[in-house]
Amino acid sequence: MQRKILVTSALPYANGSIHLGHLVEYIQTDIWVRFQKMQGHECHYVCADDAHGTPIMLRAQSEGITPETLIANIAKEHQTDFKDFSIGFDNFHSTHSDENKALAQQIYLANREAGHITTRTISQAYDPEKEMFLPDRFIKGECPKCGANDQYGDNCEVCGATYAPTDLINPISAVSGATPITKESEHYFFKLANFESALKSWTTGGHLQDEVSNKLDEWLESGLRDWDISRDAPYFGFEIPDAPDKFFYVWLDAPIGYLASFKHYCERTGVDFDEYMKPDSTTEMVHFIGKDIIYFHALFWPAMLQGANFRLPNNIYAHGFLTVDGKKMSKSRGTFINARTYLNYLNPEYLRYYYAAKLSSGIEDIDLNLEDFQNRINSDLVGKVINIASRCAGFINKGFEGKLSSSLSEPILFKEFVDKSTAIADKMENREFGHAMREIIGLADKANQYIDEKKPWTLAKEEGQEQQVQDICTMGINLFRVLIIYLKPVLPETAKQAETFLNISPLQWADIPNPILSQGINKFKPLMTRVESEKIQSIQEDSIETMSTSTES
Ligand code: 2FM
Ligand code: ZN
Repeated sequence: MQRKILVTSALPYANGSIHLGHLVEYIQTDIWVRFQKMQGHECHYVCADDAHGTPIMLRAQSEGITPETLIANIAKEHQTDFKDFSIGFDNFHSTHSDENKALAQQIYLANREAGHITTRTISQAYDPEKEMFLPDRFIKGECPKCGANDQYGDNCEVCGATYAPTDLINPISAVSGATPITKESEHYFFKLANFESALKSWTTGGHLQDEVSNKLDEWLESGLRDWDISRDAPYFGFEIPDAPDKFFYVWLDAPIGYLASFKHYCERTGVDFDEYMKPDSTTEMVHFIGKDIIYFHALFWPAMLQGANFRLPNNIYAHGFLTVDGKKMSKSRGTFINARTYLNYLNPEYLRYYYAAKLSSGIEDIDLNLEDFQNRINSDLVGKVINIASRCAGFINKGFEGKLSSSLSEPILFKEFVDKSTAIADKMENREFGHAMREIIGLADKANQYIDEKKPWTLAKEEGQEQQVQDICTMGINLFRVLIIYLKPVLPETAKQAETFLNISPLQWADIPNPILSQGINKFKPLMTRVESEKIQSIQEDSIETMSTSTES
C-alpha cells in the first residue's frame, strides 16, 4: 500500500554555518526519505531555518544589519550546503514567514480558547543599559564554587558546577557589560500539565524509541510544569495576539515551522495540507531530531498540537551526537568541521556513506574517526563496489561494442543478490543503516569473489572464449546494478552516474529483480576515487581556529 509521509529534520538556527555534526541528522533523514521514495511512497521532506530569538537579534545588531538581512544571507548559505550534500528537501522555508505567523497564531489561539494558556508575573535578570531581559547565556560572572572568571549562564566550564545564573558572583551582562538588575514582567505560560494523561499514553504508544520513552517516563513522573512561551520586547519573533510587546518564545514557533514549510510547499504543489493535518489523518508525520531536543518534541509539541486539534506525530526519531576521533568537536583541534570546508576537499558521498555505515536506530553518539573514514571509503566503496564495474566494463566496451549478453549465466548467484532485498529494505525502514551497509558490502565481496574465480582477464587472452568473457562481465555488471539500487538512497549522485553508465532510467526498488540484458552500456568513467590523507589534513588545517579568530562558542 502506498504510504503518505511527511518527514522533517530539525530546523537549523539561522545564525551559524552547517557543520558535520548537523549533517548526521540531515544525512540520516535524507537517506530514509530517498529510500521511501524509491519504494514508491508519497513522501515529502521539508525543513526551514529557525530564524527567531535573542541570539539572532543580537548578532544582526553586532553586524549592523537587520535580522531579516542576516537570516536571508544564512538561508542562502544553508541551502547551498544542503544541496551540495544532496540533502533533497522538497521544501526549505523559514520560521520568519507568513505561513508560520498564521499557524503560530492559530495554534496559540486554539490553545488559549481551550484554557491551556495562563499568565503570571515573574522576575528576571534585566540589562538596564541595553533595556532588555537577559537569557541565562547572556549573563556572565565568577563561578560561585571555584571563582573562575567569565563563566556564562548556569554552569562552570572550569569546575563543572551547576547553579542558577543569579548565583554568579559579580554578574555582568554579556551584551553591554552593565550589572544586571532584577525586574518583573508578565509572562504567558502553556499549561503542560493539562496534557499529562494524554502525554502518558502518547509517549508509551510506540511513537518513540524505547530509551526515549523511558526518559520521558522519568520526566512525566517528576511532574509537568507550566512552560514559559513569551518573551518581552525587544525580541525578534512574532508578537503574541492581544499582548502588545510580548513575543512568542522561539521554541514555540520553531516546530510550527515544520507545518509552515509544508504549507508553503502544499500551496506550490497542490498537495492537500488539511489531509495531512486533520486529527484523524491516515497520513504519517515523522520528525528526525537530535537527542538534546527531545523534551520540546515529545512533550511540548504533541501537547500544543493536541490542544489545537491537529494530528500528532507518528514518530519522533532521535539520534546521538557526533564525536570526531572519539572527542567532542573542537575548533582548536581542527575537528569542528564546517560543511563547506569538507566540500572544498572531498566528495560528499563519502561522508554520506560513512555516516550510513555508523548509524543505527539508537541514540548513541556516533564517531567520525578520520583514519577509519579513509579506510572504509577506500576499501568498501572504491575497492569493492565501484571495482566490480571497473573490472567488467572495459571488456564489454572493447570486445563487444558495449553490448551485454542476452541471458544471465549464473541465475542462482543473481537470485542471491535479489533475495536480500527484503532484509535490506527492513533494515533501511528501521533506520538500521549500519546493518544494511554490512549486508551490501557482504554482497560486494561475493561479486568480487565471483570475478576473481572466473578471471575474465585470462579468458580474454584465449581463443574462442569470447562468449564466456561477455557472460562473466554481464553477470558482474548486473550484480553491480543491484548493489547500486541498494546504495542509491545513500549515494544518490554515484547512482545517477551509474545509471548513465548502464544506460538505464532512474532505478527504483521494484527494479531489483530485472536484470539488464542484450543492451548497450556506456563507457565507464571512474565513479569515485580514493580518499587521500592530504585531503583530510587540509580539512583539519582549514578548520583550526585560534581563540582570537573564533567568533562562536
Ligand atoms: O536545536 C536547534 O538547533 C533548534 N534550532 C531546532 C529546532 S527544531 C524544530 F523544533 F524547529
Ligand atoms: Zn567553577
